[in-house]
Amino acid sequence: MNGIELKSPDEIDKMSRAAKIVAEVLEALRGMVKPGVTTEELDRFAEGFILERGGIPAFKGYRVRDKVYQHTLCTSVNNAVVHGIPSSRVLKEGDIIGLDLGVVVEGYYGDAAITVPVGRISEDVRYLLQVTNEALHKGIEKAVVGNRISDISHAVQKHAEAARFSIVTEFVGHGIGRKLHEEPQIPNYGEPGKGPRLKAGMALAIEPMVNMGEPETRCLEDGWTAVTQDGSLSAHFEHTIVVTETGPRILTKL
Ligand code: MF3
Ligand code: CO
Repeated sequence: MNGIELKSPDEIDKMSRAAKIVAEVLEALRGMVKPGVTTEELDRFAEGFILERGGIPAFKGYRVRDKVYQHTLCTSVNNAVVHGIPSSRVLKEGDIIGLDLGVVVEGYYGDAAITVPVGRISEDVRYLLQVTNEALHKGIEKAVVGNRISDISHAVQKHAEAARFSIVTEFVGHGIGRKLHEEPQIPNYGEPGKGPRLKAGMALAIEPMVNMGEPETRCLEDGWTAVTQDGSLSAHFEHTIVVTETGPRILTKL
């Protein structure tokens, strides 16, 4: 026995409607990210888009201990790993920005993130983004019935480290469904063959965070933004998926 809920087809349908809105917003935001745009403009757009389509922003009002998140989007620029707060910060050519977004539809959650370039970026930074996204997909490929949670973790770690990047260990992926964060935790590192066995109907948010330099992070005084301790760049990609008898189904894909 474990505490991981299996979702019914009806629940997966609700999740996929939430996830579709997430995917649409992220695609629209990808097109909006340009030098001169502020991160709060992106946040405002995301909120309007979600509400127009009948969804609810999942992060706004989200509580972590005594803190309440006040925004729709997390916007994590350059050395920010995750949970960057939208602000009047103006994006400039050569930046990278992580866009992390959750939506609720009829009580069910979808959650995804992408990291995108602002204008032209250097070849080595483009490689960081590529490898992190590939690591996500290597993890997703392991989300099949009969595997264990850490088979996902191990595949993510192996891919990122083969490129000589480092995996952030302070934040992990998670089960998702009627809550944003459900069991199990999904680390982005570890030995294969450990943890709960995967079953059809499990819904998982897999989300590698990969640093160009050292893996350690610290939290800024704003209480939210996690940044790399060494100031190196960091990338983050996330999908919400469901384990099915015929393999992983990515819900947050257009
Ligand atoms: N996408 C993040 C996660 O999966 C959630 C952001 S936390 C919030 O953990 F407070 F910003 F909502
Ligand atoms: Co998540």
